[in-house]
Amino acid sequence: MPASRPIGSVTHDNTGRVVLVSGGANGIGRSICDAFASSGATVVCLDVDEPAATKLPGGIDFVRGDTSVEADCKNAVSFTVEQHGGLDILVNNAAIQPPSSYVPLAELPAELWDKMLGINLSGYTFLAKHAVRVMKEQQSGVIVNMSSGQAHRTARQVPTYGPIKAANLHQARQWGVEYARDGIRVVSVSPGAIDTPLVRASLEAQGGEKELANRHPLGRIGKPEEVAAAVLWLSSTEASFVTATDLEVDGGLGAFGSFADPYPMPE
Ligand SMILES: NC(=O)c1ccc[n+]([C@@H]2O[C@H](COP(=O)([O-])OP(=O)(O)OC[C@H]3O[C@@H](n4cnc5c(N)ncnc54)[C@H](O)[C@@H]3O)[C@@H](O)[C@H]2O)c1
Repeated sequence: MPASRPIGSVTHDNTGRVVLVSGGANGIGRSICDAFASSGATVVCLDVDEPAATKLPGGIDFVRGDTSVEADCKNAVSFTVEQHGGLDILVNNAAIQPPSSYVPLAELPAELWDKMLGINLSGYTFLAKHAVRVMKEQQSGVIVNMSSGQAHRTARQVPTYGPIKAANLHQARQWGVEYARDGIRVVSVSPGAIDTPLVRASLEAQGGEKELANRHPLGRIGKPEEVAAAVLWLSSTEASFVTATDLEVDGGLGAFGSFADPYPMPE
């Protein structure tokens, strides 16, 4: 057996930086809150889930708000700036994909379309709109839009989630170009399947856990911390020449052609 090789390590110092994370009470957003907080940042979590927010570690602020309501987004940004003196990083992460949304287009209820559009698309715009006003004045800031592998390629029965995730990519590109000369970088992250309540709720619709894991070349679904690590890097000075683009954090899923032989199922 060969001796194991060093794998290196990365540490971030976000001391003094102020971060606002939408949907930070659960799943990927929660990991992003934890990663920023443990690297020294001041973190504000905006979420609708008050019971889950009580489990956030001390030191992370919670603002209750629905991102589909512009006034709630404005309030979260104002709270952050009033309490902490600025806003350095906005992570647009709150989105929904209820099991009832796995329907063909012809059966899509208009109310569900409106609801998902409100949270998954308008919510990102409203938060960024108010954040960018602060960042423009500061002449610095980073905005990260949580998109998805489903922004780049699609499947049957995702007539709402997929197209909106594609729009989340383009929001990042457009805002990144718009504010490039104001010291503001805007990027998106496209995860593959990540082990969170959102994915657990739709595992059956995606063929079950083993099947879903095996579709990723790395042979597993990802961990929320692995997405958080990408967000921390993109928000750091190490990514100072990275803007108006997307990073796929997907275990190779995006590179794997649908024409390719599937990997054998592990025992
Ligand atoms: N889990 C995955 O495999 C995966 C893959 C690709 C992309 N994503 C994206 O990552 C992000 C996070 O997903 P997740 O899996 O952690 O989801 P999750 O359901 O585990 O967490 C989402 C969080 O958003 C909050 N939220 C929902 N509606 C809200 C609203 N209107 N206002 C404020 N907060 C609200 C929820 O309360 C929850 O805390 C989403 O943008 C999702 O589309 C997830």
